[in-house]
Amino acid sequence: MALRMNDRSPPTVPIREVKVRSARKGRQVDPSALEEVQALLGAAPRRRDLLIEHLHKIQDRYGCLADRHLVALAEEMRLAMTEVYEVATFYHHFDVVKDGAPAPATVTVRVCDSLACELAGARDLLARLPNVLGEKVRVLHAPCIGRCEQAPAATVGQHPVPCADTARIGALVQQRDVTHPAAKDTAHWSADAFIGPGKSPGVELNVSPDYVGYEAYRAAGGYRLIAECLAGKHDPEAMIQKMEHSGLRGLGGAGFPTGRKWRIVRAEPQPKVVAVNIDEGEPGTFKDRVYLERDPHRFIEGMLIGAWAVQAGACYVYLRDEYHGCRAILEQELARLKADPPCALPSIDLRRGAGAYICGEESAMIESIEGKRGMPRLRPPYVAQVGVFGYPTLEHNMETLYWVRDIVERGPEWFAGFGRNGRKGLRSFSVSGRIKNPGVHLAPAGITVRELIDEYCGGMRDGHEFYGYLPGGASGGILPASMGDIPLDFDTLNKYGCFIGSAAIVILSDRDRAMDAARNLLRFFRDESCGQCTPCRVGTAKALELMERARWDEPLLEELSQAMMDASICGLGQAAPNPLLCVMKYFPHELQQGA
Ligand SMILES: Cc1cc2nc3c(=O)[nH]c(=O)nc-3n(C[C@H](O)[C@H](O)[C@H](O)COP(=O)(O)O)c2cc1C
Ligand code: SF4
Ligand code: FES
Repeated sequence: MALRMNDRSPPTVPIREVKVRSARKGRQVDPSALEEVQALLGAAPRRRDLLIEHLHKIQDRYGCLADRHLVALAEEMRLAMTEVYEVATFYHHFDVVKDGAPAPATVTVRVCDSLACELAGARDLLARLPNVLGEKVRVLHAPCIGRCEQAPAATVGQHPVPCADTARIGALVQQRDVTHPAAKDTAHWSADAFIGPGKSPGVELNVSPDYVGYEAYRAAGGYRLIAECLAGKHDPEAMIQKMEHSGLRGLGGAGFPTGRKWRIVRAEPQPKVVAVNIDEGEPGTFKDRVYLERDPHRFIEGMLIGAWAVQAGACYVYLRDEYHGCRAILEQELARLKADPPCALPSIDLRRGAGAYICGEESAMIESIEGKRGMPRLRPPYVAQVGVFGYPTLEHNMETLYWVRDIVERGPEWFAGFGRNGRKGLRSFSVSGRIKNPGVHLAPAGITVRELIDEYCGGMRDGHEFYGYLPGGASGGILPASMGDIPLDFDTLNKYGCFIGSAAIVILSDRDRAMDAARNLLRFFRDESCGQCTPCRVGTAKALELMERARWDEPLLEELSQAMMDASICGLGQAAPNPLLCVMKYFPHELQQGA
């Protein structure tokens, strides 16, 4: 018999025992700062896991985190100052300002300088902007902001600027137009609307496309399936089998079979949690944003079905901070869902990241959901056994859950029926770089990069010849055009030292060099390493230093790469050498030329 969600109590957050201190050691609390913090927090709970949410409130209101506010927040949340400080300083989007030091400028412009944006001229833009905008505007470089199809991408405050140039950025700065434009909920997409050449979402460069709102989603049959599940019309075991038969695999990068993951978590004792990963920080990846901007309820229903199947009573949705438009949509649509629920709902909490690529790694994300620094945990235990607040957790990429409803309603063979070159399923390729039509291209798994370029991307840009490609974002390696006929899917690239990961394809042309691309990627890994383990923290910095030389010391780079791959705790440090190893293997002519 199907278990009803409202029969279970959601996991409760363990309350930390706090010794009441008679007098605070060290910094004394400034009463006016305490009043300000109390006013901002209002009636919100002061729980430890909400620390990042509360830091955001202060950062949003005052444009920085002044010491006096951090001391006041520590007092208000009954935390040690060091706990607050270590979290605040971990995340890129928090500006911790010492007492007496000047606050950052009121407007911040961030220009992405990850690979697709660098290819599109981000460096030049970054060099010119300070002169154009003057001293009152802060100009920062930023790692991939998930808008690679709009390269070079920038933000003015929270306002995204696609195909950014000094004029567009200057106009927004002058108008102080720093908020994300609101989107309208008037669209009527179905999941198959985007399948096939010429139907790709995200090529129109609109930062606020219309989306399917709650009413429209329900009117088109949405949430009927989860209501039926809770009414006992479906069997969790049969549901898990459907996931297995569809061949759906995790679309966040690791490709773990979804049905198997559900089975593992289902076998764990209650209480259990679902955690949805929308951190989408892998350079080149923007598919989750593109779907979320258009059809947010489809993944929410998938999340509810997953929760029902594994018997989880609480869901956490972790959204990267850069996606301000998506956050507004999710806040509104979750509120509508809760106000008029189609069935009993588990608790659903939306959590806001704060600028840290490593928080996409599942255990780091869980740390961040708990209000801590996003540092990956050692495994075992795996998050399926010990996840959010120590409870067994079903952790999924947003897009994996996005497909659940359609797989059940259309049948697992519908999803498995797509595919090419012996592979099965659909893949949402985020394609950027030197092609005519960058965007999310929903294509058969196993398509080759040449087929993708020709059939879906409108070919190479005029004047550019296909030279090489990244098959899986920053981590997945770099291959030459001569290897452009390999089916793109999980497992097919491993023997070449590459992987598809989240299917972020960056196309290089004869005007680019793999060496320069690899330098860009290593710079990213160095900046985003959480610093917890030495092979990664020191290795990424050392590798970059060696790669910035005109001549690469190849034996030393190989040795260093091996140490990083063998001894790093998580996938960041283990995969960071992939680009440089690929340059040595597949682009030796560049190394001979040097510089
Ligand atoms: C450094 C690093 C960054 C990652 N970033 C993301 C991310 O942004 N989004 C995501 O869904 N998974 C990311 N992952 C993969 C997750 O750890 C995890 O495998 C995935 O969320 C599982 O969900 P899935 O089975 O639905 O793919 C990352 C992994 C590593 C090692
Ligand atoms: S490999 Fe890098 S990112 Fe991962 S835990 Fe170690 S230092 Fe942190
Ligand atoms: S937005 Fe610039 S590389 Fe992704």
